[in-house]
Amino acid sequence: MAPNQSTDAQRLYDSRSDTYDDSWHVRFARHMVEMASPRPGQNVLDLACGTGLVTFPAAQALGSSGSVIGLDISSGMLAQAQKKLEIQPDIGNVAFYQHSISDLDTLEVLKQRKGTFDLITCASALVLLPEPQEAVKEWVGYLKPGGKLITDVTHVQNQLTGITYERVGRRLGVGVPWHRLNFPKPEDLKDVLEDAGLKDVDVIPIAQLAIEGTDDLKDYLAAGAKSRVDKEHSIDEADQIFEKTVNSIAWGGFGNVEVRKQAKKIFKDEWAKMADADGKVRDLDCVYIGVGIKP
Ligand SMILES: C[S@@+](CC[C@H](N)C(=O)[O-])C[C@H]1O[C@@H](n2cnc3c(N)ncnc32)[C@H](O)[C@@H]1O
Repeated sequence: MAPNQSTDAQRLYDSRSDTYDDSWHVRFARHMVEMASPRPGQNVLDLACGTGLVTFPAAQALGSSGSVIGLDISSGMLAQAQKKLEIQPDIGNVAFYQHSISDLDTLEVLKQRKGTFDLITCASALVLLPEPQEAVKEWVGYLKPGGKLITDVTHVQNQLTGITYERVGRRLGVGVPWHRLNFPKPEDLKDVLEDAGLKDVDVIPIAQLAIEGTDDLKDYLAAGAKSRVDKEHSIDEADQIFEKTVNSIAWGGFGNVEVRKQAKKIFKDEWAKMADADGKVRDLDCVYIGVGIKP
């Protein structure tokens, strides 16, 4: 893992923690819990738990006989989770720890529970890790036989600004906080889960963004299967999108004037490459959820 991934993620998510819950993540996390179907009495490990959007619905499903451990690197995100915990005294056994999900074995309290979890969840975070295959291998060691791992990666044609910066970063040798290019196809997620030793691996497309009038999981699965177009852009918009977004904390590495000039040129080049034959750049609303079982 790049030595600064944890530090970068902490800075990025600390700055977002106050408003993080005002987003589609709330519904997406619920859908993930619904797909994971935790059962009463189970032990769950929620990796990159953030503000607890997966942790709390999972804890509710488990009841007082189960337990959830949430791990995250961002103290800001964990402070939000902790606040929620304090106002829900009946929620059951929930504990949060500040730690990297790329290095579980160095958290002593967790290491003692290796091989004991029924379910590991990691929502909207696998693509933040530069070496996801190494991380997932370690995670699988924490499942008991028959235990389930559920995680997700975004379609490479989703959130186009981010994926374009990632390509720019690769060409310029500048790090960005996402590593979605590790998963150009859904089969890449399947491979990572299978290489980590999981069986019965399934990769399921799902929509992320709001569908008017429904929060029902089945509607989001149906929409994900069609990869609906969220936004349609022209090739010329690249200039404006770059100028509007390059100062964001997420793209801090392009701050130097000379680097920024080159980055803009490459951004426009990479943006144009995504255009269809009719010259439109289409942002698709699709995420792949991967599920596998430890033999
Ligand atoms: C998009 S949020 C997802 C949070 C939560 N799982 C959800 O679904 O709302 C990504 C989270 O990953 C965390 N994160 C990123 N890199 C991490 C690492 N190496 N170790 C632990 N947490 C990490 C961030 O702090 C952030 O809370």
